[in-house]
Amino acid sequence: MSSGRAPTLDVHITGDDLRRALRHDVEVGLAAEAKWLSPVWFYDARGSQLFDDITRLPEYYLTRAERRLLESHAKEIAQRSGADTLIELGAGTCDKTRVLLDAFEAQGTLRRYVPLDVSEATLAAAACDLAGEYPDLLVHAVVGDFHRHIDRMPGGGRRLVAFLGSTIGNLDLLERSRFLFDLDCTMGSDDSLLMGTDVVKDVDRLLSAYDDAAGVTAEFNRNVLQVINRELDADFEPDRFTHVVRWDAENAHMEMGLRSSVDQVVAVRALDLEVAFAAGETLRTEISAKFTREQVARELFDAGFVVDATWEDHEGFLLTLASPYC
Ligand code: SAH
Ligand code: AVI
Repeated sequence: MSSGRAPTLDVHITGDDLRRALRHDVEVGLAAEAKWLSPVWFYDARGSQLFDDITRLPEYYLTRAERRLLESHAKEIAQRSGADTLIELGAGTCDKTRVLLDAFEAQGTLRRYVPLDVSEATLAAAACDLAGEYPDLLVHAVVGDFHRHIDRMPGGGRRLVAFLGSTIGNLDLLERSRFLFDLDCTMGSDDSLLMGTDVVKDVDRLLSAYDDAAGVTAEFNRNVLQVINRELDADFEPDRFTHVVRWDAENAHMEMGLRSSVDQVVAVRALDLEVAFAAGETLRTEISAKFTREQVARELFDAGFVVDATWEDHEGFLLTLASPYC
């Protein structure tokens, strides 16, 4: 048996690039009247581990629903796409991807797996594991930002681009349309897109998925303050912030935030910045948009994709296979 090829790792975004981007986001987001931060800052090594813990929580149905869909339809996805390259955006630990890789292995068309993520440590570890588990596969990991580095993904052949986990829902409507349009521009007529999206559902189920009884999501949320403390020499005291979630019906998204429990001033020494929080003031840390089938099809169509197949899980999650229409 072959021992496999070592994975390759392209780095398009370094620790310094990330620190610069974080400085910018903190300067802009914490100075805004309604304070906000991008969810990309959740995913340092601890945040990625906490997200992995979230995926196993009973309340967080998204991951198990998407895994079930992959288990039921991976063979058909592999056949329809006929891909020789699987690109995965925001791949994280690449855990569910194994279901797709197994189907492709049985089919025998796939040569290359290209996971992309901003979180280098998580990506590098996953790439090593996968290279060992799939010795005939070339694992070519890319450390990058899916808003900026999609055009750096390797081309040629037939490619399937997977964007799983409803990570698309962490973008607002405008960001989604830009992202999908940019993605479409990089894709050829033989390529296809596989996208996982969470479905609009009963508000109580949504609220408990984002505010679990064990408090793991709260820890994940507060971890972003530790990231800023470490990277920008700030003095956030996470215990002085409460994890809050709400359903925004108008925009069909869950909103997650950190509410200051007291009047306080936080120093961000690397930016020479002092940020005042009033008691009760909320820093928005994430949106998670929820979709209908029609909304997914419309957003894809507006960006240049046509839906080839859609599968829905009984817990309310969609997997959509689409291709560029010109
Ligand atoms: N796809 C996996 C992981 C989802 S968690 C799943 O379905 O379980 C979201 C992942 O996207 C994290 O690993 C995070 O590091 C990554 N991510 C978030 N914003 C990103 C960006 N702008 N560019 C690249 N990766 C990003
Ligand atoms: C990665 N992303 C799709 C998750 C979500 O559901 O929005 C992140 C997450 N936030 C809270 N729990 C999980």
